[in-house]
Amino acid sequence: MTRVVIARDAVEAGDVAGDRLAEVVRAHRRPVLGFATGSTPTTVYRSLARRVREGEVDVAALSGFALDEYVGLPAGHPESYRSVIDRDVVEPLGLRPGAVLVPDGSASRTDEAAREYDDAIRAAGGVHLQLLGIGSNGHIGFNEPGSSLASRTRVKRLSAATRADNARFFDRLDDVPTHCVTQGLGTILEAEELLLLAFGESKAAAVAAAVEGPVSSGCPGSVIQLHPRVTVILDQGAASRLAHREYYEAERVGR
Ligand code: GLP
Repeated sequence: MTRVVIARDAVEAGDVAGDRLAEVVRAHRRPVLGFATGSTPTTVYRSLARRVREGEVDVAALSGFALDEYVGLPAGHPESYRSVIDRDVVEPLGLRPGAVLVPDGSASRTDEAAREYDDAIRAAGGVHLQLLGIGSNGHIGFNEPGSSLASRTRVKRLSAATRADNARFFDRLDDVPTHCVTQGLGTILEAEELLLLAFGESKAAAVAAAVEGPVSSGCPGSVIQLHPRVTVILDQGAASRLAHREYYEAERVGR
């Protein structure tokens, strides 16, 4: 079953995740990580960057793939996920340019580019560990409720809820793109290991549905229950609606 770790706060959660990322990087000659954007993984990236600076882990051979990208933002837009990945991952870890691929949301041939993205993941030998956040409506990547559980990387329309959630990164709601390119749920499930993080009470209902609810396209995050190797790392707020919280905590202590 899904392993659930309830941390004190986002910083401790970032360290737990950073520890696992460092282990995965050390375990492979050519490690491949799946990177998520959004506010949630920032403490993870900081934790990993500290380990790189302190010589605990060498990321020279590390490459990776981002989960998703907006369609239609001009190249270099600060809120494009290409820019976010460069700022949060590539620069702090000191990765070579091109080490992390992001779906191409500017191409006029977006559908074809999406298929090529899945091919590139396969050509790299697949993702060893995929980081995931979760939207307050249960989306992972940008797979909105109703997404096929077997979906591949493709162009999707963003839901009104997600555009409203992400409006904080833009000047106005109207500036939030209407479409995205996202790895599909089937693509995400092919990673060897999944690590999903969520912080704050606004995520509590989505987390409970993803971890304990039925597996359903109504909560795309619930596909994690189909994966044999998943860890969910939460803070107190995000864990607050789990029905079996005491069980997860006891299991961790007794480990
Ligand atoms: C965003 C991203 C997801 C992210 C989620 C939660 O829209 N596409 O990859 O996991 O929504 O974002 P945040 O971590 O900022 O709450």
